[in-house]
Amino acid sequence: MRDDTEKDQHRRVRSFVRRPGRMTRAQERALSELLPVFRVPPQTDDLRLAFDRQRPLVVEIGFGNGDALAWMAANEPERNFVGIEVHEPGVGRVLKSLKSRGLENVRVAVRDAVEVLRDQARPGTLEEVRIYFPDPWPKKRHHKRRIVQEAFLALVADRLCPGGRLHLATDWQPYAEWMLEQLAASGHFENVGKPFVERPPWRPQTHFERRGARKGHPIFDLLYRRIQA
Ligand SMILES: C[S@@+](CC[C@H](N)C(=O)[O-])C[C@H]1O[C@@H](n2cnc3c(N)ncnc32)[C@H](O)[C@@H]1O
Repeated sequence: MRDDTEKDQHRRVRSFVRRPGRMTRAQERALSELLPVFRVPPQTDDLRLAFDRQRPLVVEIGFGNGDALAWMAANEPERNFVGIEVHEPGVGRVLKSLKSRGLENVRVAVRDAVEVLRDQARPGTLEEVRIYFPDPWPKKRHHKRRIVQEAFLALVADRLCPGGRLHLATDWQPYAEWMLEQLAASGHFENVGKPFVERPPWRPQTHFERRGARKGHPIFDLLYRRIQA
């Protein structure tokens, strides 16, 4: 499904605000020199084509500083990873890390993840989508900005392969409850947890998780499997 209705559904409030953020010289250089090497080709409508060698494809949405993305890609060399982030200093940081670690199973898209999934991923082609510590948008009037919404979940479900997984984590209990509700209502996923799971071995602690933990926030991991259509 990639018609105008789908475009309309997602022409909407975004889940991020572009923060200017300070960029170091090294991050700036990485963006200009390494983004052309590691980016998902902007015109492609199939993320798999970003890789020379085909492997099961994992997408991480909102990778932040990218430390978790680089760690996962190094630890799961049998998979390809597409990281999506709009915050450019974080992109610069991860590019440096990909280069220094010699990782060739990662590509990066600097674009709204909703647009990437909508325009650049084919139905049934993703093995897994990982979203770690998405912005919780705690105020009620901002709940519409939360990335986990019905239309978004329908899009994720469509792009996942049968049995594909969606892994979420948050340190904001009301958002964890919201995620449970949205996922139950979506009808596209079954919950693998009860309702939460322990942090699985493939997920390292992230930057935002450590920040939350310092404030005493509990951590919630949610793992779902796409129900066969
Ligand atoms: C709270 S941070 C978490 C970063 C990282 N996952 C971590 O745990 O440290 C959320 C990140 O998601 C990014 N983000 C939010 N909505 C996005 C979207 N629609 N597309 C791409 N990135 C998005 C933001 O720019 C931000 O860097």
